[in-house]
Amino acid sequence: METVQVQASRDYPVHIGSGLLDRCGELLRNITDSRRCCVVTDTTVRKLYADRVGRSLQDAGFTPLLCTFPAGERSKTLSTYGEILEFLAANHLTRSDCILALGGGVTGDMAGFAAATYQRGIDYIQVPTTFLAASDSSVGGKTAVDLEAGKNLVGAFWPPRMVVCDCDTFATLPPETFADGAAETLKHGLIADASFFRRLLAENVHGWLPQAVRRNVEIKASVVAEDEYERGRRKLLNFGHTLGHAVERCSGYRVPHGHAVAIGMVLVTRAAERLGHTPAGVLEEILEANRRYDLPTACDYSAEELLDAAAGDKKRSGDHIDVVVLREIGRAETVRLTMAELKEFVEAAL
Ligand SMILES: NC(=O)c1ccc[n+]([C@@H]2O[C@H](COP(=O)([O-])OP(=O)(O)OC[C@H]3O[C@@H](n4cnc5c(N)ncnc54)[C@H](O)[C@@H]3O)[C@@H](O)[C@H]2O)c1
Ligand SMILES: [Zn+2]
Repeated sequence: METVQVQASRDYPVHIGSGLLDRCGELLRNITDSRRCCVVTDTTVRKLYADRVGRSLQDAGFTPLLCTFPAGERSKTLSTYGEILEFLAANHLTRSDCILALGGGVTGDMAGFAAATYQRGIDYIQVPTTFLAASDSSVGGKTAVDLEAGKNLVGAFWPPRMVVCDCDTFATLPPETFADGAAETLKHGLIADASFFRRLLAENVHGWLPQAVRRNVEIKASVVAEDEYERGRRKLLNFGHTLGHAVERCSGYRVPHGHAVAIGMVLVTRAAERLGHTPAGVLEEILEANRRYDLPTACDYSAEELLDAAAGDKKRSGDHIDVVVLREIGRAETVRLTMAELKEFVEAAL
């Protein structure tokens, strides 16, 4: 097991390794006196892993509870979030108990938001079971649910007490869900570490997963340590996301997050190359990387549809929006666009 320490408003460890699902209880016991722990998970992950986690919690002296919701982004709503809160209340969970988010980013974001708000905030830990959640969403303390109007529009910053990534769980992921994690991994290389990005191109990440998760977590942790509340540098993690979220929304959330981000990185970089923000040649490398990891490189939506969806993004403030572009591979910056410039930008992206 390897551990990366995240420095935030409250520091927490991220444990990465093999066989860690069976050690959740013991690892949690080291950091809390809680007696009860509510495992929040989705229907798919419940069948695969909830028993093992429950047993591990029991062996460490916890009383586990299990709260399940239907798998998929379309569950990431106020209504499912409300059901989780009602479950916690009906079972008399108190602030001295804790929540364990077992699953992908949807589970982590939603269980984290329930933890942030139930009785004004209770402890939770993240146990990611997707490559995406282990490499990105479980670290950094952003929690959220979607609204009809757009992605992640309601949420809170609420750091977990601990993250436990068992990389063995990726073995049961459908290939397209694995690819979602590859998209955020490529993103980390593109914005912060050119040699990581080039290694992802040269050697299939399946052969070095724990190392890749570790590098992802280190990159994210360093950004979060500097700017936990996204006033500046943390915005760079949104590379590909303004247009990615627009694609997700246009598809009625049928295009999964990582696939949408992969398309978003292509679109934003094509526009940025055409408009002189990004040097020529970067787009070609991103296209190659997406193909390598079976990620899409285009979508069928019109500039108008994308613009409409992007205008509701929360990266927008007043009459402008911050879009992240690459100055080179491994170095990103935000550019501030007026809504008129965004229109020109989206047209140049297609
Ligand atoms: N909070 C953040 O900082 C942050 C960062 C990136 C993404 N996100 C959010 O994360 C979400 C996407 O996360 P995701 O891709 O993990 O989605 P997800 O949680 O929906 O998981 C994808 C699918 O894989 C299934 N699954 C999970 N683990 C499995 C396993 N080990 N074996 C087999 N199937 C498994 C799930 O049941 C689900 O059907 C989006 O909502 C996105 O907005 C949040
Ligand atoms: Zn993302």
